[in-house]
Parts: sequence; structure tokens; C-alpha cells
Amino acid sequence: MSNAIAIFAGARRNGNTGQFIDWIAKDLEIDVIDLSEKDISPYDYEHKNINDEFLPLMHRLLEYEKIIFVTPVYWYGPSAQMKVFIDRTSDFLDIEELKDIGRRLREKTAYIVCTSISNDADESFLNSLKNTFGYLGMKYGGHVHANCEDGYVQKNYRQDVDRFVNSVRDS
Ligand SMILES: Cc1cc2nc3c(=O)[nH]c(=O)nc-3n(C[C@H](O)[C@H](O)[C@H](O)COP(=O)(O)O)c2cc1C
Repeated sequence: MSNAIAIFAGARRNGNTGQFIDWIAKDLEIDVIDLSEKDISPYDYEHKNINDEFLPLMHRLLEYEKIIFVTPVYWYGPSAQMKVFIDRTSDFLDIEELKDIGRRLREKTAYIVCTSISNDADESFLNSLKNTFGYLGMKYGGHVHANCEDGYVQKNYRQDVDRFVNSVRDS
């Protein structure tokens, strides 16, 4: 057991990124939560969405030490579904009663699992996520990327996945 959980957000569950995280999750023996199955609405300054599924999901994630953010690279950034989720962490900064929950993120380590059609994940994509983790006070544990220029070719990613899985397990 690695005391980790993955949150997946992409436009198709069984696409490149979905297959990539399913393989990694099997090795790590962890669950994958699909954000598209959750009713999480975009950030709202008036917090009218406070009773959607964002808070219950956060409570579940906070049971783990390591949170793996899983998303394809879409236009040099994370998927729209992942961006909605990340934007909602602002609730912890603005709502007094939620600030303690937000502070608990400081005990956590964040990782990135991603795919694109480039040799490695785009720097601006990685930086936007890493900067967000830093702002929230989370430690950053690293990323693993699959180049899907020729489709999802699992054998090409073995070494990187082994390294990533070991680093999540050993941290
Ligand atoms: C809307 C969209 C935007 C994309 N933008 C990028 C990009 O900026 N850089 C890149 O290398 N690949 C980009 N791609 C390619 C995807 O990252 C790649 O095909 C990925 O493996 C798709 O994962 P999925 O099957 O889980 O959706 C984009 C694909 C889509 C559909």
C-alpha cells in the first residue's frame, strides 16, 4: 500500500491518459477517481455551489498522503475538468470554515501523471501545476509522462513508469 490516490480528468476515460493511469494504479494498488463522474461546478465567487461534490471529494483525498493528478496536456495546460477542480481549491482560501481543510493539503505530496504528443510534458503545463501545488503548500513528488504521438504504446513507457511507481512507493 502506498497511501496514495489518483484523480483523473480527461475528455475520455479509456483514452491514452486513462490507460496510462490504470496501469500505474494497478502497480501501486491504488484507486482512481474519475472527475467526470463527480458533480463539481466551476469556481463561484458567491460559493453557491458549496453543496456540490467538491467538498466530499476533498475529504476523501485528505485521507491519503499522496495525491496523483492525472490529466492529458490540452493546449499547454491541464484538461478543463482538472482546471475546474484546481480552481475550486480557492474555496479553501476564501471560506473561513474551510481554511483548516485547505491547510491539511500542506501535509500532502502531489504527483503528476500525464500524456501528450510531445517528448515530454510541456514546461508551461508542468509549471502551472507545480506552482499551484506550491501555493497550496503541497510538496511536489514528480511527474511521469507518456508520449502518445504514435498512440498509446505501453512498452515505450516501462522504464519511466517503474521509476515513478518506485518513487511514489518509497517516498
Ligand atoms: C484539445 C486538445 C489539446 C491538445 N493539446 C496538446 C498540446 O498542447 N501539446 C501536446 O503535446 N499535445 C496536445 N494534445 C494531444 C494530447 O495531449 C494527447 O493526444 C493525449 O495523449 C490525449 O490523451 P487522452 O486520450 O487521455 O485525451 C491535445 C489534444 C487535444 C484533444
